[in-house]
Amino acid sequence: MTHPLEELRESALREIREAKDEQALEALRVGYLGKSGSISGWSEQMRGLSKEEKPVVGKLLNEARTAVTAALESAAAEFRAQNEVAALANIDITLPGTPHEIGALHPLTQMLNRAIGIFRRMGFALATGPDVDTEWYCFDALNTPADHPARNEQDTFFLPDGRLLRTHTSTVQIRTMQNQPPPVRVIAPGAAYRRDEVDATHSAQFHQIEGLYVDEKVSLADLKGTLEFFLKELLGAETQVRFRPHFFPFTEPSLEVDVKSKALKSGEKWLELCGCGMVHPAVFEEVNKSRGDLAYDPEKYTGFAFGLGMDRLAMILFDIPDIRLFAQNDLRFLRQFA
Ligand code: FA5
Repeated sequence: MTHPLEELRESALREIREAKDEQALEALRVGYLGKSGSISGWSEQMRGLSKEEKPVVGKLLNEARTAVTAALESAAAEFRAQNEVAALANIDITLPGTPHEIGALHPLTQMLNRAIGIFRRMGFALATGPDVDTEWYCFDALNTPADHPARNEQDTFFLPDGRLLRTHTSTVQIRTMQNQPPPVRVIAPGAAYRRDEVDATHSAQFHQIEGLYVDEKVSLADLKGTLEFFLKELLGAETQVRFRPHFFPFTEPSLEVDVKSKALKSGEKWLELCGCGMVHPAVFEEVNKSRGDLAYDPEKYTGFAFGLGMDRLAMILFDIPDIRLFAQNDLRFLRQFA
């Protein structure tokens, strides 16, 4: 005689075989194995059975539960596989895919990376400083006191707490010398900000690479050699470099650097690129004062510094007519450099 539990198992297995979809399977699972399912109900009945009956029925109950669970799982797996095949049937794998757009570096970043690479080969380390800085780092420490007319040329944006958006990367000269004794040989690429009238060659935010080299016996010849090598590496061996006397409060003598190259679209025109000079002894003295030592003894050490306008350099190199294009995010412009 078959036990009712065996009959229950057989009917469950048959119904699972005949189930039409996953919902039907779920209904069967609940009906047989759910909290108040007919197989689960036998667990309750076990309590009222005699000692002899208990192990027999317990075994049958386990077998029924295991068999029904396994049948439910394999039927569900079958349905899932069928669904996947059905979903793929509508896909034509011979059609071309949707192309992914590949990003590229912004022309200014490309320019910056090239420039940094050349200076690193010459042994310059990278230094950084904050875009928001104090007047002291931006002007006072650079021999430009509050009443100095040079401050007018570098008007900028002030925060309510008196700090400002740095007008040049020269702030990093001071921060670097505060943090380490000579010798120093660093470049500091970064953004600078000015309240300049915006036009084709002036932007309110632009980029500079600051350079600083301090050691015993550093001379103007080292400065000229370094910048000439850099510009010829970047713009081509036929590039002509011209140094013109200029004024910066933090360098003495001070110079401006122009370039001209037949390889460039600008051809026969001299283009102004960079300010530079020999570090003013007053800057060393101010650094010593803030360090509280005489590490930068102006009698012992000399140094050169420069500030290259990277946006203008990129304009020359890539023949870009207007500085505003860098910040307009126009993909037609940017794609030309991808
Ligand atoms: C300075 O900023 C000095 N700190 C450079 C310097 C460093 C001199 C170290 C001596 C020693 P200047 O104001 O000339 O100098 O700016 C340097 C370069 O930044 C310019 O040649 C130009 O290429 C770029 N530049 C200045 N203002 C703008 C602007 N509004 N938009 C785009 N580029 C600018």
